[in-house]
Amino acid sequence: MVTRALKLAAISAIATMSLFAGQYNQQAEKDRQALIKYFVAKFSDPVKNAARFFPYTPTEELKKNYRPVKDWHEFAKGVYSFAKGPRQQYLELIEMPPYEDDVDDGEELYNSTKGLKECFPKPAEAAVEYPKYDTKKHEVVTLTMAINDCVVKHGGKPWNPYKGKIAKVEAYFAAQARDAGKVINVKIPNAEAEKAYEHGKKYYFSQRGYIDISCANCHVQGAGKRVRRDYLSPLVGQVTHFPVYRLSWEELGTLERRLKGCIKNQGQQPPKPFSEDMRDLIYFLSYMSNGMKVDGPDVRK
Ligand code: HEC
Repeated sequence: MVTRALKLAAISAIATMSLFAGQYNQQAEKDRQALIKYFVAKFSDPVKNAARFFPYTPTEELKKNYRPVKDWHEFAKGVYSFAKGPRQQYLELIEMPPYEDDVDDGEELYNSTKGLKECFPKPAEAAVEYPKYDTKKHEVVTLTMAINDCVVKHGGKPWNPYKGKIAKVEAYFAAQARDAGKVINVKIPNAEAEKAYEHGKKYYFSQRGYIDISCANCHVQGAGKRVRRDYLSPLVGQVTHFPVYRLSWEELGTLERRLKGCIKNQGQQPPKPFSEDMRDLIYFLSYMSNGMKVDGPDVRK
């Protein structure tokens, strides 16, 4: 009897605990920690851990092409954290970053566009304030959406959510945040927000498209492997550096643009940039980069 009473008490204690604010991120924290552990195990010594993570890669190739990554914060650099050759090219490229003019343009747009200063009084803060779960609107608001809503609210026409002005303003915000050493800190304030997180996570792990593949197939299990000439980056750290100047675009683009490309490659119709699927996916992705410094804008192939 006593043990049964104790068990019941323990169960109800657990149930009440999850009612307290601050507990809604419990699962998300578990997910994040598990991923960090997995990626550190995978990348800290690819040669030694080859049997578990790279069974089909010849040892010579692992030795020649892979750089060990022991500190998970380095995953902010994506592929360039572990792939020696691409990392070298990247380091040469950023000696003269191709996005510098975009940051200047972004600052000018910030100063000259009606409403932006009111909506985002502190540019460095804006970069880490979003994505956030808006408890009044009952939905995830991304930075791209917040900028667009602000412009429209102040009488402007909506901006292209993939490139151009929005990407430039985001580049300015990110650069300010990087200078100020801001750290990504996505919050999950209530049960609804937790649902949105789980929805984004489900999207990420679901196999879809005509090739029946999930994001995780490439960016979790597949991270570190090579698809033709491209290495695959790990999920942790993937959103730290947006907007990105892609060499293949020859210009700057938003996270929404990048995701659209990856989803299309999966053989699927990408969700609209401000749809629930897209916003919740970004919410999940961003939580997985919690604790990492803002490192945008940056360059990718
Ligand atoms: C068939 C494999 C594949 C699938 C599936 C896939 N991607 Fe990718 N993804 C790539 C490749 C290749 C790149 C470019 C190399 C890299 O950075 O990983 C990339 C790049 C990215 C980047 C940019 C990384 C950076 O450092 O800037 C993000 C973000 C991303 N993918 C997210 C996703 C999401 C979210 C999904 C699911 C909706 C997804 N990807 C599905 C192959 C894939």
